[in-house]
Amino acid sequence: MNATRALIVAAGLVLASGLDPAPLRADTPAPPKLPPGYAGSTACRACHPDVWLNFYKNPHFKTLAIHKAAPETTGCESCHGPGLAHIAAHGDKSKIVAFSALAPARVLDRCLTCHGETLPRANIRRSVHTANDVVCTNCHSIHKSPTPRYLLAHKQADLCYGCHTDVRAQFDMPSHHRVNEGVVQCSDCHNPHGAFDPTWRMASRPRMVNQALANEEACIGCHPETRGPFAFEHPPVRVEGCETCHFPHGSTNARLLRRPVVFTLCLECHNGASGFGRTGAGAPTTPFTHNLANPRFQNCTSCHIRIHGSNADAFFLR
Ligand code: HEC
Ligand code: HEC
Ligand code: HEC
Ligand code: HEC
Ligand code: HEC
Ligand code: HEC
Ligand code: HEC
Ligand code: HEC
Ligand code: HEC
Ligand code: HEC
Repeated sequence: MNATRALIVAAGLVLASGLDPAPLRADTPAPPKLPPGYAGSTACRACHPDVWLNFYKNPHFKTLAIHKAAPETTGCESCHGPGLAHIAAHGDKSKIVAFSALAPARVLDRCLTCHGETLPRANIRRSVHTANDVVCTNCHSIHKSPTPRYLLAHKQADLCYGCHTDVRAQFDMPSHHRVNEGVVQCSDCHNPHGAFDPTWRMASRPRMVNQALANEEACIGCHPETRGPFAFEHPPVRVEGCETCHFPHGSTNARLLRRPVVFTLCLECHNGASGFGRTGAGAPTTPFTHNLANPRFQNCTSCHIRIHGSNADAFFLR
């Protein structure tokens, strides 16, 4: 289809979306009061037709509808800066904000002029990504995004794996969260823009992990039944956190467990003294003693089935 037809189609879609197409119509005169140095978005069309004709589909097209009068905050020049000198110099790249030539910190500043440092980006300046010069344009593609939402540079998992190759192998392990299958996303647990130092219990391993509810681990959002509150808490679940016993990404052990055999996990904290029999002061007259040499006793969670906590039993037996 030729350019004029494409434009008519574009304008039709724009009208259907309820946005004002006027600033992008080629025959519309530039708005009367352009600040010095600005050319208006319309002027970019002649030499950048591909970018220009696709822009109506971009969430940033909304800037044209929001602030009709000010090119420094709308359309092409809201990101690329004043364009007159660039045009006068027949497209001299040094006379416009070309992101390919910007230092990471400048990219961040540019995008943050509109995207305020509020949730979910409230901690972006101190995030591990920012500290490593990974900024907006490493993850977002304004003009060539293949994703239907969020203008990501690649489908989310591929985007993250592009730099975190070791993590891909973890999600291929026998027990894993189904990220590669599209059921769970990295951003369900991580905030790539940087999380606040989450809960005190996670302080030793922040890793940009999201919080589900105030002060709770991301895991709780999808596994609320593990959280309680329970009449009988298993302290490590709430105090040390889920990662005490589980790997978050993948494991060669069932149930994402950190140990291949459950009892070795339990014995890290329960040393098996007196066979767990309550033989000390105040113990019942007929103590229940575990004989760990008996295989029956090695599968701890076959009896202690409510391992995350129970409302019925202090020993998590039901
Ligand atoms: C007269 C033609 C012309 C017009 C009009 C024009 N440009 Fe350009 N622009 C060019 C050319 C040619 C290049 C490539 C320069 C190069 O690669 O060295 C370019 C490069 C650019 C780049 C740099 C791309 C990169 O490599 O990072 C940006 C950004 C850009 N133009 C934005 C704009 C914007 C915004 C407008 C409207 C305000 C505009 N241009 C209007 C000709 C034009
Ligand atoms: C939200 C900010 C933003 C807006 C608005 C924007 N651009 Fe860009 N532009 C970028 C970024 C960032 C890049 C670098 C490549 C990328 O990430 O896609 C870029 C790259 C370009 C390039 C280089 C070629 C390319 O495709 O990579 C041209 C030309 C360009 N933009 C022109 C325009 C024109 C014309 C408009 C208005 C129709 C416009 N831009 C609106 C941010 C923006
Ligand atoms: C490490 C990769 C990465 C970096 C760096 C990054 N983003 Fe994102 N961003 C994402 C991902 C992934 C999503 C989608 C999150 C989701 O699916 O919930 C997203 C979502 C967004 C959204 C839409 C959700 C919302 O309402 O906030 C905006 C806006 C955004 N990012 C802006 C930015 C800006 C501005 C920067 C730079 C200051 C930036 N991002 C840096 C990966 C990144
Ligand atoms: C002139 C203000 C402005 C600038 C500068 C700007 N944005 Fe935006 N951005 C917006 C607006 C407005 C929206 C649409 C918000 C909405 O849909 O509610 C948006 C939406 C987004 C989204 C979400 C897209 C979606 O599908 O929800 C992303 C991601 C994003 N911008 C990234 C960037 C990046 C990266 C930069 C820097 C290259 C940037 N923005 C620069 C105003 C801006
Ligand atoms: C089910 C929640 C969850 C999902 C989904 C998830 N993560 Fe994680 N991730 C975590 C937690 C929790 C930690 C902290 C582990 C620790 O410190 O012991 C972590 C740690 C990390 C680390 C730092 C430690 C390391 O192993 O290198 C990286 C990098 C990482 N995740 C990347 C990713 C990527 C990329 C994805 C998506 C492909 C992803 N994560 C999906 C929960 C998750
Ligand atoms: C352009 C490369 C790049 C991309 C894309 C990228 N990261 Fe990172 N990420 C890094 C670097 C560099 C670090 C810091 C060094 C390290 O820990 O490996 C890092 C660190 C992390 C950490 C560990 C933080 C900590 O406290 O140690 C997590 C978690 C993480 N990234 C998640 C993600 C997720 C989720 C995505 C996709 C939305 C993503 N990253 C995309 C480069 C990238
Ligand atoms: C976005 C939702 C979501 C989040 C957040 C989440 N999970 Fe899951 N989890 C699932 C789903 C869905 C399954 C079902 C198993 C599957 O996908 O095959 C699952 C399964 C599990 C399993 C059982 C695995 C097996 O092999 O049977 C464990 C253990 C687990 N999750 C622990 C965690 C931990 C620990 C966290 C926090 C680091 C967490 N989950 C965060 C959705 C989530
Ligand atoms: C004290 C160690 C421990 C802690 C801490 C722990 N889990 Fe588990 N979890 C286990 C064991 C052991 C199993 C396997 C139970 C079995 O074999 O039936 C399990 C199983 C699971 C399962 C699989 C479904 C089920 O109930 O059997 C999920 C989901 C799960 N845990 C999520 C979590 C979440 C979320 C947290 C943090 C709130 C957490 N776990 C904390 C030991 C723990
Ligand atoms: C990170 C340490 C840790 C791990 C791992 C752990 N526990 Fe515990 N567990 C505790 C603590 C602390 C208590 C509370 C003890 C107390 O109050 O004296 C407790 C309490 C219990 C109780 C309640 C009885 C009592 O003494 O209060 C049972 C039963 C129990 N754990 C079983 C298990 C089993 C089975 C596993 C393995 C799946 C396991 N625990 C893994 C730390 C741990
Ligand atoms: C055959 C069922 C069964 C198996 C298997 C089992 N337990 Fe128990 N366990 C019990 C019962 C019943 C009690 C409650 C004893 C009582 O009432 O005094 C108990 C009590 C406990 C207590 C609390 C004892 C105390 O002194 O406070 C701990 C800790 C414990 N078990 C850990 C484990 C661990 C670790 C394993 C795996 C090595 C395990 N159990 C395997 C049935 C079992």
